[in-house]
Parts: sequence; structure tokens; C-alpha cells
Amino acid sequence: MIKKKILIFGASGFIGYHLSKYLSRNRKNFLTLVDDNSRGKIDEDLRKLIKKKNIEFIRLDLTNPKSFKKLNSKYDQLYVLASVVGVNNTLTRPDKVIEINTLIIINTLIWLKKSKIDNVFYASTSENYAGTLDILKNKIPTPENIHLSISDIEHPRYTYAATKILGESAFINFSKIWNFNLKIARFHNIYGPRMGFKHVIPHLVERFYKKESPFKIYGPNQTRAFCYIDDAIIGIEKMMNSKKAKDYIYNIGFDEEVKIEKLSKLVGKFFNYKGKFTKGSPFPGSTKRRCPDLKKSRKDFNFKNKFTLLQGLKITCQWYKKYFQENKKIFEKSYQHPNDFKNIQ
Ligand SMILES: NC(=O)c1ccc[n+]([C@@H]2O[C@H](COP(=O)([O-])OP(=O)(O)OC[C@H]3O[C@@H](n4cnc5c(N)ncnc54)[C@H](O)[C@@H]3O)[C@@H](O)[C@H]2O)c1
Repeated sequence: MIKKKILIFGASGFIGYHLSKYLSRNRKNFLTLVDDNSRGKIDEDLRKLIKKKNIEFIRLDLTNPKSFKKLNSKYDQLYVLASVVGVNNTLTRPDKVIEINTLIIINTLIWLKKSKIDNVFYASTSENYAGTLDILKNKIPTPENIHLSISDIEHPRYTYAATKILGESAFINFSKIWNFNLKIARFHNIYGPRMGFKHVIPHLVERFYKKESPFKIYGPNQTRAFCYIDDAIIGIEKMMNSKKAKDYIYNIGFDEEVKIEKLSKLVGKFFNYKGKFTKGSPFPGSTKRRCPDLKKSRKDFNFKNKFTLLQGLKITCQWYKKYFQENKKIFEKSYQHPNDFKNIQ
């Protein structure tokens, strides 16, 4: 017997796929997965998942308001993960980042006015802190209640954060007027298998796999804190179902900062790299440090990190090694070197 009807926007993507897989294990859940597959393709993993009896998959472009007519109006939960993400996208098509992300937010909220969904989740980002951290020298680890800012409105990189700040404000204000429960997670560098090819860990994996030597580390002194996907997914579910979690916004991540240099050397070990390392400049516009303060998430819904960085990296590197071996042609095209963007600064 179905107890919970769950709708997930952006379900073919990295977090959406893992969340759908996790929630579908409970047979009392029925999941409607939505994506236009512009980024998250229907690969073997997703094909297997959407064959499950308690899942339906609908291919929809959420920038088109007519798409929403294909949905019911009664779901118990909605997860809004659909978005254009990735630094490469902001640097090459900032107009599309703004257009697509804004339309998804607005169309979803207008549809929510008429639908009967009481529990809504909106995926936001630690990029919203980047301006404040670099310019106003705010706290690291960073709590949720600091001011948000865009440090350089002209830089295309900030188009993504601009849309996510809009998303937070829009979802909060609509939820107050239209009376639905809302939770917002600011994700901090979530990683794991099937995360695509546009983020720091898959970039490193791909370059070690290709045997780049000497190995150049871009922005070696920058720091990040990486959270393994399984921990993030359990955190999202706990946040959505918690009665104690009364605030709108929670950090989801890992509060152990690591230098990019150390991260690169750890990934190199999984590929038995014994060569030299050299230093390169950081990605244009990227923040120097990033690490979440997780006190509120730990207190309000008992958020936990079970995976150490080494454990998570091991699983992720193994997954990518296998992927690259099986899909040689695809991966030869996928990597874009940070210098590809040197003209955009
Ligand atoms: N992965 C992270 O570390 C991280 C960090 C901060 C924030 N986030 C946020 O979490 C969410 C999920 O991130 P992810 O890493 O899984 O990204 P992803 O790119 O893997 O997934 C996003 C999905 O949205 C879909 N999508 C894009 N435009 C669409 C449209 N018009 N209609 C329907 N679907 C569309 C894409 O096809 C993709 O499958 C995003 O909102 C992102 O901004 C993720």
C-alpha cells in the first residue's frame, strides 16, 4: 500500500538519482521522477532504477510552464533539484544559467500555488557564501545565518549563485504566502559515483587516469570540505521528515577542510601515481576556502557524516575507473582544462 507520493525534479542528475534510489527502497513510497535529461542522461543505472514498480519517470522540460500539466497536483513531497550547475556552464553560457534556473524556480512556484503539496525541498548551494567569505572575511566553518553576497556582479561565475539566492528568497516567500512547509539545503561539495565530469574530484580522477605527468594542481592552497553522497542523501531525508527542524535553511556537507593539494595527492594514490606535482593558478573567480558549520543540522535532525574522505574517495575512484574503462570514447572528450576559460576572466 502506497503511503507517500514523492515528486523529484532533476531526478536523472547526481543527487537526484541517488536520492531516488534511496527513497525507492521503501515500497510504501511511490516516486515520480522528472528530468529533461539535459545533463543527467538515461544511462544503465537510471534505466535500471526507473524499471522499479514504485517509480515512474516523466521527461519534462521544467522551463516550459506547459510541462506541469503532465503532473498530478497531489504529492506528499516535492524535491526541487533541477538546475544548471557547474562552473563550466557559468563560464561558457551564463545567459542560459540565468534563464533556465530562474524559469525552473518561477514555473515551479506558480504551479505550487495550485497544487496540494505540503512538504517542499529546494536545493541551494554553498556558492551563496562565496562572496561574503572572500570580501567580508566571514567565519569558516560557515553557519547558515551569515549575510549572502555576490562579490563581482560582472563575473559570469556568479550567475549560478545569483539564481540560487533568488531561489531561496522566492521559495521562502511563496511558502509563507501559500502555506507549505519548506526546507532548503545549502549543499557543500557533495561527491560520489555518477556525479558527472564537471567537478573537482572527477576532473582529478580523469587526469590521473589519463596519466598526466607532471601533475599540475590548480589552486593547491584553496580548501574545500567534501561530503560523500550517501551521507548527504540520508541528511536530506532526515531534514524533510524531522519535526524538530524548524528553520528553512540548513547546511549539508562535511566539516573537515582539506587543501586541494592534499586532495589531489590522495586521489593520485588510488591511481598509483608516483610522478611529480606542479602548481597552477586556481579556477577563475573560485573562493579560497569553503567549509560548512553543521551544528544546526546535527542538533535539529541529527545529521551525521559516516564516510571519511578516504572511504568516500575509494568508492568514487573505483566507480570512475570502471566507467572510463567501459566508455573510453566519451571520456576522451569530456575533460575541459581550467585554462580553456582563461579569456573569460
Ligand atoms: N552536487 C553538489 O555538490 C551541489 C552543491 C551545491 C548545490 N547543488 C544543487 O543540488 C541540485 C542537484 O545537483 P546535482 O549535482 O545533482 O546536479 P546535476 O546537474 O547532476 O542534476 C541537475 C539535474 O537537473 C536537470 N535539469 C536541468 N534543467 C532542467 C530542465 N529545464 N527541466 C528538467 N530538468 C532539468 C538536469 O538534466 C540534471 O539531471 C542542484 O540544484 C544544484 O544546484 C549541488
